[in-house]
Amino acid sequence: MRDTHFDVLIVGSGAAGLSLALQLPETVSIGLLSKSDLNSGSTSWAQGGMAAVLHERDTIESHVEDTLQAGAGLCHQDAVTFTVKQSRSVVDWLIAQGVDFDLRNDQPDDEFREFHLTMEGGHSIRRILHAADQTGSAISKALNARVSERTNVEILTDRCVVDLIVKDGKATGAYVLNTSTGMVETIGARAIALATGGASKAYLYTSNPDGATGDGIALAWRAGCRVANLEFNQFHPTCLYHSKARTFLLTEALRGEGATLRLPSGERFMPRFDHRAELAPRDIVARAIDHEMKRLGLECVYLDITHKSREQIQEHFPTVQARCAELGIDIAKERIPVVPAAHYTCGGVVVDQYGATDVPGLYVIGETACTGLHGANRMASNSLLECFVYASSAAQHMSSHLPDKIAGRLSTWDDSRVRVSDEAVVIQHSWHALRRLMWDYVGIERTNRRLKRAANHISVLEQEVDDYYASFTITKELLELRNLTLVAKLMVESARSRKETRGLHFNSDYPAMLSEGRNTILIPKGGSSTSRELPKYR
Ligand code: FAD
Ligand code: SIN
Repeated sequence: MRDTHFDVLIVGSGAAGLSLALQLPETVSIGLLSKSDLNSGSTSWAQGGMAAVLHERDTIESHVEDTLQAGAGLCHQDAVTFTVKQSRSVVDWLIAQGVDFDLRNDQPDDEFREFHLTMEGGHSIRRILHAADQTGSAISKALNARVSERTNVEILTDRCVVDLIVKDGKATGAYVLNTSTGMVETIGARAIALATGGASKAYLYTSNPDGATGDGIALAWRAGCRVANLEFNQFHPTCLYHSKARTFLLTEALRGEGATLRLPSGERFMPRFDHRAELAPRDIVARAIDHEMKRLGLECVYLDITHKSREQIQEHFPTVQARCAELGIDIAKERIPVVPAAHYTCGGVVVDQYGATDVPGLYVIGETACTGLHGANRMASNSLLECFVYASSAAQHMSSHLPDKIAGRLSTWDDSRVRVSDEAVVIQHSWHALRRLMWDYVGIERTNRRLKRAANHISVLEQEVDDYYASFTITKELLELRNLTLVAKLMVESARSRKETRGLHFNSDYPAMLSEGRNTILIPKGGSSTSRELPKYR
């Protein structure tokens, strides 16, 4: 069994975790964990791109204003300004790491060609920097290559953190399941960063990879951190509707390039819902699709990009084109069947400008965190930007505030009272039940009664999962179910406490938006609302 110590333990190898590892000084020893391989998170699946102020007519004020508008009165203006102001330096840093973004092709001989910028919902100008429709993959490849060259970074794949170790009120390590050996390792660290992505797997239909089970939110909550705004789970309007492809996203950049949403009759319906039509923020477009599907009893609506030539589609959307072609859909000629699906966790662990949490020594960055940037609805392509900005500020803060190593050994994992399970069917059953009930009762349109039902069902599931956890040896599937059940409970609790409709939270029993926007803050039992400088969440 391993018993290891690092200066910094980074949990997660997506945009946030990798860029933190690369921005810490090379004198700092780092353990970088991933649940499976380095590409297991959402980052390598990102299609559309990253928002940045690059266009000659764009301004920081305009990007800030669009973000605030999309966030429906809940964004923290200082977090928005802080993030947007750094977009240009993030772009420079990514290019220095070897990321190739698309350039404009109407000036091919010009040595100083500008970036090709695309458009997405909520943005008032072309602002999305991209690498065709494979931006996440381009970023992951470049950062993976850089991190593999670092001698101070030990990459530990197939490792699933079970729980954090908090000693004398400080985060000092983690119990980590090695999923190849089945053993639990104890890893100590002077500081820990959770960069574990979101929790959209809580829903039956999602654009996210399998590991998006809210682990970081659950780990931080159990360690004593506050969480905020978990009722705001974003549904992406356009995921492919096909029996053989449940999780394939059709990037918003398609709509940015003029794709329209249509009913089976061919009628274009978005102009009836918002003057920005297909380029309204995601909450509005997803709700309009949901409304039309329910009104007409449809299984899906259609996305139409046939106004573009085959060559234009091939150049900008090769991934979408190839995946649809594999499934027999020629997107240059045919409309694409689409449905909304859970996509992004806007809330998360409460952090300050450096990603620091309520628990000293514990940082949270990327989709797991609630920085105040997204408010009640994240604007498209602001997520990758947030990952890089907060990884950079966390790196600076850690470098100058690394706590001393805690004296003495950490206690090792005790599994003397559990045995190998003979009824793993409980995990399968609860996993499906949880995701189905979240989809049915805590989806795009909520009611008080549906939320109450969800809370009741989840409390029964939670009891079963806890009993199982206390009786049997752990597996990755059990840990993910335990975390997802906890996060679903927190999502429902947050949704029930919001007595209004705002952004992504639409409750038909409270259709109006209150005049004053308040964050939903949950505090764990025994958790501290510390005196340290954290965002002033109301
Ligand atoms: P992730 O990239 O999700 O990485 C999480 C990491 O944590 C993984 O390495 C995982 O293995 C590890 N991990 C999780 N739990 C544990 C545990 N218990 N123990 C050990 N390791 C653990 N955003 C944009 O801005 N622009 C886009 O174009 C865009 N397109 C998207 C397209 C898709 C299909 C999806 C799903 C998302 C998209 N997003 C986009 C959102 C964005 O990609 C994510 O929010 C962002 O990549 C999250 O990065 P992260 O580093 O926080 O986490
Ligand atoms: C997309 O390409 O539509 C996803 C963009 C995002 O989630 O920000």
